[in-house]
Amino acid sequence: MPNLIHLLPDNVANQIAAGEVVQRPASVVKELIENSLDAHAKNITLIFRDGGKTLIDIIDDGSGMSVTDARMSFERHATSKINKSEDLFSLQTMGFRGEALASIAAVAQVEMKTRKHEDELGTRICLEASDVKIQEPGSFPAGTRIIVKNLFFNVPARRNFLKTDAIETRHIMDEFIRIALCRNDISFQLFNEEEQVYDLPASTPGKRISDLFGKGYLENLIPFQEHSEYLSLEGFISRPDFLKKTRGEQFLFVNERIVKHPYIQHAIISAYESLIPPGTFPFYMLKLNVDPARIDVNVHPAKTEIKFEDERLVYSIVLNILKRVLGNASLIPQLEIPVVSKTGLVENQSYQTGTVSPQTFSIPEYSKNYPAKDQTGFTQNISGAWNQFSGGTQLPKENKLFSDSELRATNEKNEHKNEPVQLFNQFILWPQEQELIVINQTYASERIVYEKYRKSASTKSGTGKQLLFPQTLQLNPADVMLLMESAEDIFAMGFDFNQLGKDTIVLHAVPEEVTFEELDNFFHQLLEGIKQNRSSYSQNRREFLLRIMAKKATIKPGKKLDPAEMKGLIEKLFSCEVKSYTPDGIPTFVMMTAQELNGRFLKKK
Ligand SMILES: Nc1ncnc2c1ncn2[C@@H]1O[C@H](COP(=O)(O)OP(=O)(O)OP(=O)(O)O)[C@@H](O)[C@H]1O
Ligand SMILES: [Mg+2]
Repeated sequence: MPNLIHLLPDNVANQIAAGEVVQRPASVVKELIENSLDAHAKNITLIFRDGGKTLIDIIDDGSGMSVTDARMSFERHATSKINKSEDLFSLQTMGFRGEALASIAAVAQVEMKTRKHEDELGTRICLEASDVKIQEPGSFPAGTRIIVKNLFFNVPARRNFLKTDAIETRHIMDEFIRIALCRNDISFQLFNEEEQVYDLPASTPGKRISDLFGKGYLENLIPFQEHSEYLSLEGFISRPDFLKKTRGEQFLFVNERIVKHPYIQHAIISAYESLIPPGTFPFYMLKLNVDPARIDVNVHPAKTEIKFEDERLVYSIVLNILKRVLGNASLIPQLEIPVVSKTGLVENQSYQTGTVSPQTFSIPEYSKNYPAKDQTGFTQNISGAWNQFSGGTQLPKENKLFSDSELRATNEKNEHKNEPVQLFNQFILWPQEQELIVINQTYASERIVYEKYRKSASTKSGTGKQLLFPQTLQLNPADVMLLMESAEDIFAMGFDFNQLGKDTIVLHAVPEEVTFEELDNFFHQLLEGIKQNRSSYSQNRREFLLRIMAKKATIKPGKKLDPAEMKGLIEKLFSCEVKSYTPDGIPTFVMMTAQELNGRFLKKK
């Protein structure tokens, strides 16, 4: 019997490998730009045509290559980036496999012109389906230019799988945006069919976001920067009211590599848990940096997946940082003052939509809870209490907004300038020096009660008021079963009851916010809510109960509040972890500056 096994010729092996590395024109763009970044380029230009199918041209001013390296770079497993397997765990570069150029050259016509800065002459190499057609010296600018023509010209099956030019263009743009977003220190230019689409000078992370997504974008994002011994996390996340209908604008970079990491992405979204309605998605751009020894990047051929050495630890750090950032910074956007022009006229009357000055206003008494911005646009470390990350969410330190005597002196007339006033039995007007805070009593109380219950539910410390006479509730047997299934979670919020027969429960204690008259109604609403939302309920039963309870226990519109009650509400609201939104993302208060009010008088007739 003759032997059957033989080695594949190089060009066939390369073409097979290319199947994994080069899926579409955008993969070529990604690999080539990453090579330019690894070569320490400061300026990178990308030109493409026909969705990258006929032309992708990348020019950089990086290190360039010697004649030998230029030739070697197209060999498979030829790399300057690692030597031994341990190097994989101290990677400082995007590339490490030595496969990209070989793969691209296997399925396209490639021309490379490269010159090292110190060399007088450079090298030009042309390849077609892995065959070197031309290699010659020449005078070229320092750096490297790689032109990739007619992708998949020799693999019709792959070529036919490509989508329309418009779709492939979108993929290229997405890839470009990801890289440009992460590497704001590099200047990028992008041309599609000779037309310049982006011209991005090197700049700060915030400026890069504005350059890519538009000027108004930044106002809706919260910048932050946190460092720990284990990792650092910085970037921008959506304010809870700046939401998207799709997940498209969510960027997670780990050691400057864009990654897909569903587990960590879950942590990010969980930080918004009590802030945004279902079916909406926050924008985020997060840069996580960690010792390369603590991650494995070699788990996916396209290098878009990584594994952390301790995934659960990273999850909990990320979740806690973001919760704190969202909680602490949720006031920032409203505290920015519109730009006032030299004429004294307000150029921008709406603080929600227009440009705002970088200056932030802070309410003196509790300003220390909020991060100050530094010149980079990042906030300073929000809390040094780093070692608390695993200890659950921190409530901000209690800062008294009203003194005890103020709180006691309920109806006495006093000259305190911050005296709150109730309006329409629904809003609390709380004047500050420069603006008016208008609190919605219903939404504010919903947030307060929600956080209170959540705290007691998580520590299982819920204590309600004991009923002098136990109260019996008559329900149908299925409802009693449903209630008993969730009994533990309901107890955690301060209820205490037991089942009596198949259709009765006997209540012994209730949370203080639930009044005796409302009891029956409360349980019926609770059961109704559970039935209507069975699927989400089974996923997150406790969160669901918390929200129902919080809604139930709000101070309703129409309820008159005395000054002490108003102050108590303000005090509690501003000690909440998240102050400005209900668990469903409705604002608990709005602010109006003197300028804005003035603007209303100056409005055009
Ligand atoms: N733009 C460039 N400037 C300078 N050197 C480059 C450039 N592009 C590629 N090289 C050199 O060619 C080598 C091969 O590149 P290639 O992209 O094939 O592999 P890699 O980057 O090492 O690993 P990977 O396959 O993971 O990308 C690189 O290691 C680098 O030395
Ligand atoms: Mg590479």
